[in-house]
Amino acid sequence: MKKKKRRLRKKRIRNCLIGLILLIGVGIGGFSYFQYIHSNSYLLKQIGYQKDEIEIILKQSPKEIDTILKKEYHKNMVSLLQEQYFLLDHLDRYLAYSKKHPNKSMKDVVTLVNVNRDREFYENSKKTDTSKKELMLVNKYYALGKDYQPTNIVSISNQYCYGENEIKEEVFDAFLDMWNAAKKENLTLIITSSYRDYETQEILWNRYKDQQGQAWADSISARAGSSEHQTGYTLDIVTYNSILNDFENTDEFKWLQKHAHEYGFILRYPKGKEDITGYDYESWHYRYVGVDVAKKIHELGITFDEYYAYFIENK
Ligand code: DAL
Ligand code: ZN
Repeated sequence: MKKKKRRLRKKRIRNCLIGLILLIGVGIGGFSYFQYIHSNSYLLKQIGYQKDEIEIILKQSPKEIDTILKKEYHKNMVSLLQEQYFLLDHLDRYLAYSKKHPNKSMKDVVTLVNVNRDREFYENSKKTDTSKKELMLVNKYYALGKDYQPTNIVSISNQYCYGENEIKEEVFDAFLDMWNAAKKENLTLIITSSYRDYETQEILWNRYKDQQGQAWADSISARAGSSEHQTGYTLDIVTYNSILNDFENTDEFKWLQKHAHEYGFILRYPKGKEDITGYDYESWHYRYVGVDVAKKIHELGITFDEYYAYFIENK
């Protein structure tokens, strides 16, 4: 009798333990399931992303993941995220631009939107932030006021230029170092244009427009207020017996290609980057940005417009 009672108690205890274990199991399972259906991974799957896409998305910053979770599925999303110069703030513009230009690569979409090419030239131009000094951006989207005049302007001696020229002192100092270095290799750099005020630029652009129409004028010349020459940080450089368009065939040009950045200058409108800069290739137009930035731009192989969008404005 006693034995039977003991066996019964044992059985009860065992059943209780099994029940408890089952309960804990169900609890853990339920909690895990609850966690899973609230996880980013599950939510991304619900939106329509595949396993390999989800893995990439989950490696992004929390802010980026949050933004993606709020959007519908986009087949280009993951490619966009992996672009070197991707900027989250531009995501909607990238998606709209790639929809409008389905043949463009995501690299081009990111580059072109970063430099505002999804917007019309000269429409709602922003004011150039002149406090950025040698890193101020002046282009078809950022303009200087009519009255903007650079400080510390010096006139350039005839030895170094054709005609009357003026430039910011720090730019002239950097040019002189560059000029001397080129001279050591029997090369002569000659300035043909430098600081130009608003009115001079207006006259130039109008002249081009009268010659061959507005579209042509816009491809080779900035409208007044939108020329880098008004900043005092830009020089047009050629050499003897070379006018602008054939400068690229000279040894001086080849030397500048290799060394300009060491003195703080960059070729501002490179060949093959016309879509980005909005101008025809200009082998003679050099912009002073300081040695560190010029070296970085040279190393990355990007234009100043791209550099500004990613490394300056984005900060
Ligand atoms: N030629 C360059 C674009 C200028 O006019 O500033
Ligand atoms: Zn120029």
